[in-house]
Amino acid sequence: MIKQAIIPLAGLGTRLLPLTSVFAKELLPINGKPGIEYILDECIEAGIKEVIFIISKKKIMIKNYFYNDNFYKKIIAKKKDSRIINEYKKILKYKKMIKFVYQNEPLGTGNAVLKAKKYIKDKYFLMLLPDDLIIKHNCSKSMIQIHNKYKSSVMASMSVNRKDVTRWGIYKLNKKIDKKNYFISDVIEKPSINKAPSNKAVIGRYILPKNIFSKLLKQKPGKSGEIHITDAIQSLIDENYKFIAHHFSGKYLDCGSMNGYIKSSLEISKI
Ligand code: UTP
Repeated sequence: MIKQAIIPLAGLGTRLLPLTSVFAKELLPINGKPGIEYILDECIEAGIKEVIFIISKKKIMIKNYFYNDNFYKKIIAKKKDSRIINEYKKILKYKKMIKFVYQNEPLGTGNAVLKAKKYIKDKYFLMLLPDDLIIKHNCSKSMIQIHNKYKSSVMASMSVNRKDVTRWGIYKLNKKIDKKNYFISDVIEKPSINKAPSNKAVIGRYILPKNIFSKLLKQKPGKSGEIHITDAIQSLIDENYKFIAHHFSGKYLDCGSMNGYIKSSLEISKI
């Protein structure tokens, strides 16, 4: 069973400047609700019991958001407002399941994940990139079902425009399982258009084996000098670990870019 999730939140969010110069992008509202709460709700509905947030000192406001008890208690004592009481109850529910771990320097997603090494108990865990919202369908839940069936790693996937492959981790299909699921044979972080093995991109949901930590420990910096989770996944594939690309149902919203962030509120308000 997959019961733990890692969420890296220690990046700089430069694509959302100036919004992120003093504010954590994961707390930015998307249709009136902080982006990270959509991710937490997805985890809870998928049966996750513990979530490990990788934050940095610069993003301590994320922890403060969940630890503002005195403030809530004072306001609730004064106003007895049922909406505020319910919001506080929700925060308490989230807080119970979150553990905070620090990544002091943004050395890449792989390096962020490595910080959670000592807390992962089971053979597999879920990893979510909070910039990637998937609405109308619980992608993590479907991926966990596939993992339970095939006992292998799973990554969320979608087709992207050929000219955009340079923005993503792109993989090569190996064997079709069914209409939505494929075994993959290679994955490359942000390839050039010429080197891209397909137009199939990895989106920010992964079910990874605990063994990935030993790969990450040895991982040399890749593109832009960062330690990428994709490179560690390739090392596992080279050792015949099975990875399934899952073409998710639902709609993908890229909340890490300014255009995508603006559009995401509009899309969610339509549901
Ligand atoms: P991104 O590289 O897409 O986001 O990382 P970023 O670095 O925050 O933003 P830009 O590119 O400068 O605009 C994907 C996720 O991984 C986290 C980020 O916080 C984001 O949620 N991350 C990235 C880390 O936790 N640590 C890192 O070293 C890098």
